Amino acid sequence: MTTLTRALELPQLRPDQWAIAAHAAHIKIVCAGRRFGKTVLGGAVGIVAANGGSKVAWIAPTYRNSRPMWRWCESVCSPLTRDGIEVARAERIISFPSGGFIGVYSADNPDSIRGEAFHLTIIDEAARVSEEAWTDAIQPTLADYDGFALLISTPKGKNWFFNEFVAAQSDLTGRAHAWHAPTNANPNPNIRRAFELARTRVSERTFRQEWLAEFVEGGAVFRNVRELATLTRQDPVPGHAYVIGVDWARTGDLTVFAVLDKTTRQLVYLDRFTGIDYPTQAERLGALNQRYWDAQIIAETNAMGKPMTEFLQARGLPISEFTTTAASKVELIDALIRAFEYREIRILQDAVLLGELEAYEELRRQANGKPIYGAPTGLHDDCVMALAFAWWGLTHGGSEFSSGMSPLAGYRG
Ligand SMILES: Nc1ncnc2c1ncn2[C@@H]1O[C@H](COP(=O)(O)OP(=O)(O)O)[C@@H](O)[C@H]1O
Ligand SMILES: [Mg+2]
Repeated sequence: MTTLTRALELPQLRPDQWAIAAHAAHIKIVCAGRRFGKTVLGGAVGIVAANGGSKVAWIAPTYRNSRPMWRWCESVCSPLTRDGIEVARAERIISFPSGGFIGVYSADNPDSIRGEAFHLTIIDEAARVSEEAWTDAIQPTLADYDGFALLISTPKGKNWFFNEFVAAQSDLTGRAHAWHAPTNANPNPNIRRAFELARTRVSERTFRQEWLAEFVEGGAVFRNVRELATLTRQDPVPGHAYVIGVDWARTGDLTVFAVLDKTTRQLVYLDRFTGIDYPTQAERLGALNQRYWDAQIIAETNAMGKPMTEFLQARGLPISEFTTTAASKVELIDALIRAFEYREIRILQDAVLLGELEAYEELRRQANGKPIYGAPTGLHDDCVMALAFAWWGLTHGGSEFSSGMSPLAGYRG
């Protein structure tokens, strides 16, 4: 058997990475922070094994994630095509003179590996791969050869990867082994600096999960989001009542109108736009109000919401005001959290809305222990806010608006 280890220019693994690579366990679970060196570890292990004659699958969560992995394999192996290495770009498989190969696959297309058999499967960012892809498509590929699995990932809440990690930790047979390492196990000074910077810049939860590689409980603020997002846009139904939640644009973001059917508790329409002056926005809202049977409108009065509200009220629109404070925002978002938790709401299958809902998080805690919610840095929350206002209108519609205790005042519906 011909192997090419000498000629391959692989990164020299650090001792901690080497300890993982050389360990005898069949199932290796590595939970590590971002920039720890997970991909370098996986790639080096994969190519050395393929060069030694093994059939290797290197799997990323999505096709997009797999591209840099393939480019890396190509850059390491292409210079050696004269030595008998074959690079099949279309299939993304590199074959070695030993008879071994490494293929780069993505778990969002599990059919590409169904029916294959591997000696070694490496899953990069395994926690982002669906449990079904792991159990139904990937695990069976190891059966023929009693193959090895190397699962390397930053955690993502307590999902199936957590279960595998715990199982490996408590394994007494030696078949499975688990490792844990934060980002700063990587001695690279730039990465250590980024680690220290992140500590002060990101939410505590994000820091613990992404950089300390802890399995943080809870995770997403909104549950069951995908399951409840089954609807397509609906026209107004005669006899139904509607409520419109409004999130006005601040500089640089969007204005969003969310229309909820009060009768079915379904989000039936979402209007999202940018760069339109206030009179045109008002006109657009007026038209939506008319279309959905004089729908009740809930809008924030803070900042430029106040003049907008007065403008709309002067035109006779049924608009209720919501004054956002730290306390009222917690009430507002908690109400929507419960709607998702208890599956009381149904929403549109809208990619932007889904993305915002799933990314929405508890940023930190107030002095009184209550959460501060929001979108992670760089992401928007306008759809979430419009939906939250609409849900508030739906669940708080009626006399309690005038109680004085409610953040809503001036309701006249
Ligand atoms: N053994 C190593 N030797 C030199 N540099 C390394 C090694 N392992 C990782 N690195 C470097 O650390 C950085 C993060 O590595 P990467 O594998 O992309 O991390 P992760 O996949 O955990 O986010 C990269 O710049 C990579 O080149
Ligand atoms: Mg990586």
